[in-house]
Amino acid sequence: MVLENKLDLTDSSELARVEERISKIKALELFESGLLDTFEVGTFVGLASIHKHLFGEVYSFAGKIRDKNIAKNDFQFAPLMYLDASLDYVSKMPQSNFDEIIEKYVNMNVAHPFREGNGRSTRIWLDSILKNELGQVVDWSKVDKEDYLLAMQRSPVKDVEIKALLKDALTNKINDREMYMKGIDASYRYEDQYIYKTEDLALKPQLQQQSRSLGDRLFDYQSECHSSKTNDIAHK
Ligand SMILES: Nc1ncnc2c1ncn2[C@@H]1O[C@H](COP(=O)(O)OP(=O)(O)O)[C@@H](O)[C@H]1O
Ligand SMILES: [Mg+2]
Repeated sequence: MVLENKLDLTDSSELARVEERISKIKALELFESGLLDTFEVGTFVGLASIHKHLFGEVYSFAGKIRDKNIAKNDFQFAPLMYLDASLDYVSKMPQSNFDEIIEKYVNMNVAHPFREGNGRSTRIWLDSILKNELGQVVDWSKVDKEDYLLAMQRSPVKDVEIKALLKDALTNKINDREMYMKGIDASYRYEDQYIYKTEDLALKPQLQQQSRSLGDRLFDYQSECHSSKTNDIAHK
């Protein structure tokens, strides 16, 4: 079943493509506009702001607490009944050193507040805590997908693996645009989204001046798809 979306897409692979494209543009916008630096650091409110920005044009649930219980690989994330209390608790967890920050990240992952998009938004949230508190961020391009996912599966029981993995990938390049973009691409790759490179989605300066809306760019994208489909037929 396709997740209900604002674009009325009914094909799951098309939704995945459009979601990837729009939310990667939005992720870059968060960084370039400085908006990310205005959000609360280390609270659910801050995470919800990130989620709303990334997915607000695609899902009406963007930034909102889920209304369903969800599970992955037999692991059940926080039951709805305890979700509000759990988010209050995590928001108040300390974040003054690396271990505390990762423990907070692991607990936010166990809460999994949104219907979809928890991984991608929470990794940006984690980096904003690390940046603010330690002057470092994770270079996600150095974190292997399988290692990461196994460490996250294990993290509710034991967090040593995820701590070791992320500690090894820390960097001081906190304001490096290229690193941020590569990090977004790696983060999306963990979720099997790798059609677009964030760098290629970056607007050219003259387009930025014209400040074209995301809707226009989506229209271009849909026209591209349409013309490539038409071309396919024409070649047959
Ligand atoms: N079995 C698991 N147990 C705990 N956490 C998991 C498990 N599997 C995946 N995760 C975490 O959940 C994230 C995916 O959550 P999801 O809401 O689907 O985010 P996204 O839509 O961004 O992919 C992964 O990136 C990982 O951090
Ligand atoms: Mg997902």
